[in-house]
Order: sequence, then structure tokens, then C-alpha cells
Amino acid sequence: MTSVDSGPTVAPIPRGLTAVGAAAANFATALPAAELPSGTMRRVTFGDLDVLVANTSRGIVAIDDRCPHMSAPLSIGALDGCLVDCPLHSGQFDLSTGRETRMPTTGGLDAEGRYHPVWAPEGREPKPDPPGLKAEARRLTRVRRIRYYPVRLRDGIIEVAIPAT
Ligand code: FES
Repeated sequence: MTSVDSGPTVAPIPRGLTAVGAAAANFATALPAAELPSGTMRRVTFGDLDVLVANTSRGIVAIDDRCPHMSAPLSIGALDGCLVDCPLHSGQFDLSTGRETRMPTTGGLDAEGRYHPVWAPEGREPKPDPPGLKAEARRLTRVRRIRYYPVRLRDGIIEVAIPAT
């Protein structure tokens, strides 16, 4: 049996996670779908808003190109299926749910406000926290839920709904 490539699709936005103002926003051209093969992601900038457009295993999504931990650009991380890895502290996020699937190495609070300790990849020791405010800041930093911008496909072009600023 031969598989038929049905072309790019748009993934549903997880319930309640549409970015503020995006539901009623106008669509703007992001990039041709042909330039975003499955499993790839790109930063697209609209004014002062950097958006990550990712072609996940569930379809195309658009979110802020800012890690929900400490705002590093996810576009230079790694995408595997629906999972995106942050290049800064190894946090991992599921673009099909908007939730973290691995906490950052710095630990801190997850989206529900539960505390997680610092950790290190296998074979490395966790970096000790210097005493004082820096450790406190890490402990109190909460990973947010990802917010999504509506996406549509028109004549092979990916368009994203961008709120007016
Ligand atoms: S900024 Fe992404 S995990 Fe810390």
C-alpha cells in the first residue's frame, strides 16, 4: 500500500491557550508552507513580535518564539514530533498540549506552581546555586503555559493571526 501525502495541516490550539487578542486578530502572511517541511520550525517576526512557526507531527502551530521559562528563542532548539527542546536550560515542552514535559535544569515552579529541584543531564553534576537572590529567583521562576496564535493555510501560504499592538 502506498501512503498519500495529504500536505500540510494545522494543529488544533489546546483549550484555553489562545494568546490574548489573537482570536479576533487579522491574519498575516508568515511563510510558504513549502519552506516549512514536517519536523522543522522557523522564527517569523511581525513588528516587535517574534513568532515560532513549527510543523509538528500534529500539524502546524504558532507560538511566541520565547521559551515559557526564561524567554530563550525556541526556534534554535530541537523539534521531535510535538516536543520542542529549549537550547538554554534543556526544558522540554509539548506543543500539542502547551505544557512542560521536562523541567529546566534550573528547577523552579511548573505551570501548576509545584516546585522542582535543579537537575543535570546524565554524567554531569547539577550546578550549585550561589547563595542569595539568584537561587531564590530560580526557585520562584514559574514555567508558564504556552500561548498560541491561530494559523490558517491559504494557497500554500501559512498565515498567522497577530494581535494589533
Ligand atoms: S529558557 Fe528555556 S528552559 Fe530555561
